[in-house]
Amino acid sequence: MSTLAAHVERLLVRAFEAHGFDSRGVRAVPAQRPELADLQCNAAMPLGGAIQRPPREIAEAVAASLRNDAAFDSVEVAGPGFINVRLSASLLGEAATSQWADVRAGIAPQPPETIVIDFGGPNVAKPLHVGHLRSLVLGESLRRILIAQGHRVIGDVHLGDWGLQMGMLISELPAIWPELRDDGGWTAAPPFDMGQLQAIYPRVAAACKADPARMAVARAVTAKLQAGDAASMRLWETIRRVSLQAQSVDFASLDAHFDELNGESRVQPLIPGMIADLRARGIAQDSDGALVIEVAQEGDDSPVPPLLLEKSDGAALYATTDLATLLDRRDRLHPSRVVYVVDQRQALHFRQVFRAAKRAGFADGMDLVHVGFGTVNGRDGKPYKTRDGGVAQLHELLDDAIGRARARIEESGDVDDIDARARAIGIAAVKFADLSTYRTSGYVFDPDRMVSFEGRTGPYVQYACVRIASILDRATAQGVVPGPIEVAEAAERALVLLCARFPDAVASAALRYAPNDIADYAYDLAQAFSRFYAACPVLGADVPAVRGSRLSLALLARHVLTQALELLGIRVPARM
Ligand code: ARG
Repeated sequence: MSTLAAHVERLLVRAFEAHGFDSRGVRAVPAQRPELADLQCNAAMPLGGAIQRPPREIAEAVAASLRNDAAFDSVEVAGPGFINVRLSASLLGEAATSQWADVRAGIAPQPPETIVIDFGGPNVAKPLHVGHLRSLVLGESLRRILIAQGHRVIGDVHLGDWGLQMGMLISELPAIWPELRDDGGWTAAPPFDMGQLQAIYPRVAAACKADPARMAVARAVTAKLQAGDAASMRLWETIRRVSLQAQSVDFASLDAHFDELNGESRVQPLIPGMIADLRARGIAQDSDGALVIEVAQEGDDSPVPPLLLEKSDGAALYATTDLATLLDRRDRLHPSRVVYVVDQRQALHFRQVFRAAKRAGFADGMDLVHVGFGTVNGRDGKPYKTRDGGVAQLHELLDDAIGRARARIEESGDVDDIDARARAIGIAAVKFADLSTYRTSGYVFDPDRMVSFEGRTGPYVQYACVRIASILDRATAQGVVPGPIEVAEAAERALVLLCARFPDAVASAALRYAPNDIADYAYDLAQAFSRFYAACPVLGADVPAVRGSRLSLALLARHVLTQALELLGIRVPARM
């Protein structure tokens, strides 16, 4: 809760208790009718019911004792017993000043935990596509939110870098580049790049599917790799590196940061021991030649099939690797929470993995959370495709948005530093559009709307920050400096009250793993700033003290907005 509301709540609680009333239900919440009050308390109604007294009488008694407090301009009772309070200018001024002075703008620190956040999750030799956008954008924002709350956060990309897909590639490349055939001839730079890997992979995959003999070769090479054959390992290592380097460019475009770049391969050595242990403890069971863990529970609303640990041919699976990864994370990092930011369509997979992990005792004292998300859709409401019906690559989407931002800048005629500006605006547009939708809902990728400077968009919010920066520049030029905050006008009051609610937005975003709470908040705040600026000229005010106070308010708004955007992973350009 915001410090301001918490303060008022303490005063309310004291007043309820002074009259001998039960104060457990006392809350100070934003007023429903801001023209009448800043905050309201609704506790008198349920209390009246409980102790058989008219709620209005209770509210009147409490209001009477609050009226003397310097924190309030007015305390009124309305309707059946709402207590409406209007805060005093001095209380608002103090709250605004202390929030402005706080680097985190009032975000409440939480008891620190170690949290692993698993996001991104691309597969080696495949380009990042539209499906990775949400994981990267949401994951990065959640990473920042958790850090801001004071946690130790470890971001890990969980690359798909193992298994048959790697065997397929390794079995194909030496046919194209004979120097790869033995381990001797290519100590220098690899002969292939990501573009070539990307083109080769689907071709081999199709060939393997069509021809069992070709598939048998791929499987044999996979087995050789898994047995640790040196030449295969070297080639695998190179493929992984070339691929990760290319993918890192996309991570960087989105400002997604990873503390660890581990993949499925890392934990393969742990799997035999893990399986033996699960078998020995009777947690894993044979089932038609395969090895499974039963995870169905009484009361399941839909069937939860057993987790498949090992196929009848002895191959380990996606879920096996996730279990082993959890062991690795537990033993190395000792997290109290592991958060997986992965497509909602993998919900069943995570349900199985989490339950299996609990049964196996791999997650004692740990919270396992699947933060699922919906699809990015085209205008037809179906998962987004390129014009020719293919899967859109991530960089194409970003380039599209950046290109449109560029066109807007060109229209304005001021094209200085256009590359950096177009980039900052285009990326912000994409991120904000993604983060302003509750994660489990899909949304339509509409780059024209996203880059607009009007409406609920990233550029609209960025623009509010840029505007304040230019007010500050003009103030500096005119010798106006920020002064003590004196809240007088309604728009000033509204701005301060909304700034004070920033910590609530952050707390709720963290609790629900829902950065849209912060995106919505940032949009509301940008609007509140606009209203303030329209009603309360800063440099145009006649009285010097008013100019100073309003300049401080504008800077407070910028501080909070910048913090909010920072948590969304959105940068504010110097100019737009
Ligand atoms: N590579 C996976 C995919 O493309 C996503 C990995 C998500 N993380 C995890 N721990 N399973 O579907």
